[in-house]
Amino acid sequence: MHRLTRRLAEVHGIRQFLDIGTGIPTAPNLHEVAQGIAPASRVVYVDNDPIVLAHARALLTSTPQGRTAYIDGDLRDPEKLLADPALHGTLDLDQPVALTLINLVHFLSDEAAHPLVQQLLEALPSGSFLALTAGTGDSAPEQAEVASRRYREAGIENHLRTRAQVERFFTGLELDEPGVVLINRWHPEPDDGPVLEDHEVMAYAALARKP
Ligand SMILES: C[S@@+](CC[C@H](N)C(=O)[O-])C[C@H]1O[C@@H](n2cnc3c(N)ncnc32)[C@H](O)[C@@H]1O
Repeated sequence: MHRLTRRLAEVHGIRQFLDIGTGIPTAPNLHEVAQGIAPASRVVYVDNDPIVLAHARALLTSTPQGRTAYIDGDLRDPEKLLADPALHGTLDLDQPVALTLINLVHFLSDEAAHPLVQQLLEALPSGSFLALTAGTGDSAPEQAEVASRRYREAGIENHLRTRAQVERFFTGLELDEPGVVLINRWHPEPDDGPVLEDHEVMAYAALARKP
């Protein structure tokens, strides 16, 4: 999330973010990364978990120049999300927006996820971006299957994807380099911490621009 956000802000000049599946606040949060580069950046966070809602105050610490909002919403109801006054009060949908889906689509099948992502991208103007990470069994098949099975045993739908399946999310978009790669290979930075081998990660990452 940090590297995707930094590249969106620094290299692609993105100043608006719609982050769905935000999760419990972290340090730094997406808006802190983006506003650290461009203080006027605006971020809308969305999650459907009441625990995340309970912690949402930590996501509403915008710079005075920028703005953040939290929506207790669901990726599976894009119409409601796109009609939310908090979204329109924070983001200008006539200007480019980065749709960030970090570690979220593994909760949905391809059949469910693709039309939802498509619908959200259609609402965003040319020059917008899709930033996505997605769980895979390509690099560490046994560990990934154990993790996926634990989700399923807990009653939570879970889908591992091949690289080709992840690439499908970017059909019709202009993929940023280096394309769809394992997260340890996506623009690694010197201060990332220990260097991870392929067999130690279980997700792909990519970034692409809407033409
Ligand atoms: C694995 S966490 C990822 C959190 C964060 N993006 C990260 O990468 O650290 C997935 C988050 O997505 C949320 N989520 C799952 N299904 C969702 C849905 N249909 N709509 C909105 N949020 C959802 C969960 O509540 C959870 O907070």
